[in-house]
Amino acid sequence: MPGSYVRPESQRPRLAEVVSGAPIPVVDLSSTDRAAVVRAIGDACRSHGFFQVLNHGIDAGLIAAVMGVGRDFFRLPAEEKAKLYSDDPAKKIRLSTSFNVRKETVHNWRDYLRLHCHPLDQFVPDWPSNPPDFKETISTYCKEVRELGFRLYAAISESLGLEASYMKDTLGEQEQHMAVNFYPRCPEPELTYGLPAHTDPNALTILLMDQDVAGLQVLHGGKWVAVNPKPGALIVNIGDQLQALSNGQYRSVWHRAVVNSDRERLSVASFLCPCNDVELGPARKLVTEETPAVYRSYTYDEYYKKFWSRNLDQEHCLELFRT
Ligand code: OGA
Ligand code: NI
Repeated sequence: MPGSYVRPESQRPRLAEVVSGAPIPVVDLSSTDRAAVVRAIGDACRSHGFFQVLNHGIDAGLIAAVMGVGRDFFRLPAEEKAKLYSDDPAKKIRLSTSFNVRKETVHNWRDYLRLHCHPLDQFVPDWPSNPPDFKETISTYCKEVRELGFRLYAAISESLGLEASYMKDTLGEQEQHMAVNFYPRCPEPELTYGLPAHTDPNALTILLMDQDVAGLQVLHGGKWVAVNPKPGALIVNIGDQLQALSNGQYRSVWHRAVVNSDRERLSVASFLCPCNDVELGPARKLVTEETPAVYRSYTYDEYYKKFWSRNLDQEHCLELFRT
């Protein structure tokens, strides 16, 4: 394995110490008991920062098609993919590798295609036209995942005692980004990461992952816990912006992706991101005399630039925005 991917001894994933078989919370969105769904989501956001949703309304055939075009894209000849390569995080469509090759000292065992997805008509023309069904399949999925995200916002807002429309309204005309992550087989998974420990800088992430190949791990109770999703489930996690909005009640939890030696792995992450220029920070209603503001106010533009200027596994980026 090339030396530029090898982590120093103290930073390695220690795969033998990972907890397996500790399920992360599951929420069935088809339940007619709305209060119970809201409560379950609130509890999960507080305790794990991660949960899986079942009966989320996105068709299983569409999900299989998304994974299919994702795989087909990464199987294209290198010369074809190279046309899309860029290491500039400001680009609205790019194929890249690792995390931020301009800044980092050790690389990660990952390639990824990053797309901006809203409004679709502005970005889709620049998406890959090969595989031929890429644009249509991914756009359909993007629309559905956005709707699901807004339904989750309503439940999360309510679980904090806010108006159901609070998040959708205060986060502004949301940007939506996608990362199609491809983790090739790796000769020495003990020495490297697909993605090292990080928190997501955006508001909410909805992750579609390989049903057969594990790799996502979440920090819970000081231990790394392997996430094995239930069949048909999507994984949801709170990003830094919802931790800030909840005034620290909900947690944007550290997570990482590890690789393995016998199978490649694909995941498709959809990121809902606040509008660049709205004011972010704790919801006013959640700031009281007993619970003073933990974070100052700022814009996403300021936050995002700070996030990409660092290494992925440095301190929690929100720490830099404390009052
Ligand atoms: C991400 C992420 C995890 C995975 O893209 O931010 O955490 O399992 N991905 O690919
Ligand atoms: Ni992530």
